[in-house]
Amino acid sequence: MDNERASNHHLSGIIVIFGGTGDLTKRKLLPALYNLVCEGLVPENFAVVAVGRQEKTREQYLDEALAAVSRYSRNQIQAPCWEAFKKIIYYIQLDFLAADEYNKLQAALVQIDDKHTTGGNRVFYLAVAPEFFEPIVHSLHTYKLVGGERGWQRLVIEKPFGRDLPSAARLNQQLSQVFCEENIYRIDHYLGKEMIQNIMVLRFCNPVFESLWNNKYIDNVQILLSEKAGIGSRGGYYESAGAMRDMVQNHVLQTLSLIAMEPPVALTPDAIRNEKLKVIQAIEAFTPERIKQDVVFGQYGAGIQSGQAVKAYRDEEKVDPQSNTETFVAMKLYIQNFRWSGTPFYIRTGKRLGSNEGKIVIQFKTSPPVLYFSNTLAQQPNVLVIKIQPQVGVYFQFCTKKFGSSEEIVSATMDTSNDCYTNGNTPEAYERLIIDILRGDTTLFSRWDEVEAAWGFVDQIIARKQQVPGDFPNYQAGTMGPAQAEELLARDERKWWD
Ligand code: BG6
Repeated sequence: MDNERASNHHLSGIIVIFGGTGDLTKRKLLPALYNLVCEGLVPENFAVVAVGRQEKTREQYLDEALAAVSRYSRNQIQAPCWEAFKKIIYYIQLDFLAADEYNKLQAALVQIDDKHTTGGNRVFYLAVAPEFFEPIVHSLHTYKLVGGERGWQRLVIEKPFGRDLPSAARLNQQLSQVFCEENIYRIDHYLGKEMIQNIMVLRFCNPVFESLWNNKYIDNVQILLSEKAGIGSRGGYYESAGAMRDMVQNHVLQTLSLIAMEPPVALTPDAIRNEKLKVIQAIEAFTPERIKQDVVFGQYGAGIQSGQAVKAYRDEEKVDPQSNTETFVAMKLYIQNFRWSGTPFYIRTGKRLGSNEGKIVIQFKTSPPVLYFSNTLAQQPNVLVIKIQPQVGVYFQFCTKKFGSSEEIVSATMDTSNDCYTNGNTPEAYERLIIDILRGDTTLFSRWDEVEAAWGFVDQIIARKQQVPGDFPNYQAGTMGPAQAEELLARDERKWWD
């Protein structure tokens, strides 16, 4: 942390958050910024300008920010930190679509620049609904908030980045007329999570794992991102997204690419992203036959969760009572390259499941059935589990002789994980990402060609799904998804590691 503090010292800039009164800002961005202030990680010359459509004074905004930070921050409110935080927060009312209002924004930013000596460096953070991405960027350009002589300007864009390949390509084309690729930060908050960042260290700093990290020694890989929550008030968005677009296109494929990539030639953003991209490009294309066989879609029906009755997806707010949107996906895929050919990767993600968990399971092949064969425990595979959340750490399972017995074999485990003090979509991920944006480090952000390849992969599956409506709902809230998801592995004589 001390190194980090010292190296952040020379950075400077203003973060302009469009959607400054929105949900993401309140739940994630303000708490993350507050924590960075508390930990002395923000640069000395730094300010945050929240831009929103509602009329309110700076004092009113700060009151709301205080409520949000008190509720969502991992650090409690402490007077000195809050005082320091207040000094760098501003609020500007602006109608995103009223182009001429951008002059007002520019004038305010120039004043704040002078006051905080931020040198014209700006991060434009679009925490708004996707329909505003293009008009905002267009106005930033027209009213000369981008370009010019002073400082750098960077664009941060939240998901969804398009809703299929053509719309993502169109959006990217619009953005690239104003920002070059190095200045576009496409957020995938999973990349900011502790254990996702740890994957490369675990693999490339531990020859004991990396030397076995291939189809010769690994039987299969499982990625689970399960949520107990339903879609809450996000029915409007989720109806046109579904689990494929909401989770698979981004978080799941990013996780998969880190697990399966080759070692990069250097720890530079492009060297790493080149290798991640190759993984997505190497995923074997699905024929319609294989989609039918190896992809399971689900949608939750009513059920009981944590002792409470919960409603079916089709009864949620802003959801079509006949909806065909999937809230669950399980699939088996293959990466067709030298390292992975023949090793199945099973992925599973969904809402209203029986667990709230993010983990990657690497199941190794068992020893040849020659020695200790009669002992079924000896046939237990070695399993390495990378626990993303709520527990964070690594778990390893291996065989050992039972103490005192001459031949009895038992399964032993090593577990480095601790209960994480905050669950789920933690502000920690955003803290890391915000600092990287200020530093100009794009490693933890998706490059356009990765996004493009990911859309190419999910589009083929979504297209097929649209032709064959699901027999929904097909799983009860509070369970681990439809029975077909169990059959997917049972067919291969495997099981999910739950
Ligand atoms: C978001 C999805 O990107 O990730 C949400 O839009 C999902 O639907 C969330 O709930 C999961 O993130 P986390 O960090 O809670 O696992």
